[in-house]
Amino acid sequence: MKMVLATHNLNKAGEMLRILAGLDIEFIALPDFAGAPDVEEDGSTLEENAVKKANSAAMFTGLPALADDTGLEVDALGGAPGVFSARYAGPGCSYGENNKKLLSALAGLPSAKRSARFRCVMALVYPGGKLLTAQGQLEGFITLQVMGKGGFGYDPIFEVKGLGKTLAELAPEEKNIISHRAAALRAMLELLKSGQ
Ligand code: IMP
Repeated sequence: MKMVLATHNLNKAGEMLRILAGLDIEFIALPDFAGAPDVEEDGSTLEENAVKKANSAAMFTGLPALADDTGLEVDALGGAPGVFSARYAGPGCSYGENNKKLLSALAGLPSAKRSARFRCVMALVYPGGKLLTAQGQLEGFITLQVMGKGGFGYDPIFEVKGLGKTLAELAPEEKNIISHRAAALRAMLELLKSGQ
């Protein structure tokens, strides 16, 4: 079976391909289809955005399409940036600008009050319209400063609960075992195995 990875984010696609390696599915990245549309992520929930991305890719390519939408929920900020994680510091902002803004927003808060989680919603849409969704999350804390050089996005300021390291301090294969994205993909594979 062929399946499209419905993302233009190379970091995400790379992680997903490594997590899904060994399956009897040929994954094709969306940018490999000339003229593939880039969807505006304007939904009010992670699920809405994930479904919108998968749906657009399935319609465009005529293949089943898998998409994720991820948000970082910080308890001290009432769950923000959440669905706005990509553009927290403004439209077109960089990962570094998002991290800087979040560290400023939490300035002065002790570690015990910096709890947060990544939540990932995975959507699989078939060309006929059938939809499956699955979720994964990873608990942790926002650090006091940037730590580590790996990963992407908020990884350098997200310390994994119980590990004492940020996601950016882990090797890619370590992140890909414990991550929100890996958990969501495992849940999706369980749905597929159970015949849904
Ligand atoms: P989206 O799922 O592409 O909308 O991602 C929203 C934002 O969350 C992006 O700006 C990424 O920086 C961030 N993000 C998504 N996945 C991860 C991750 O695995 N680690 C760190 N940041 C992430």
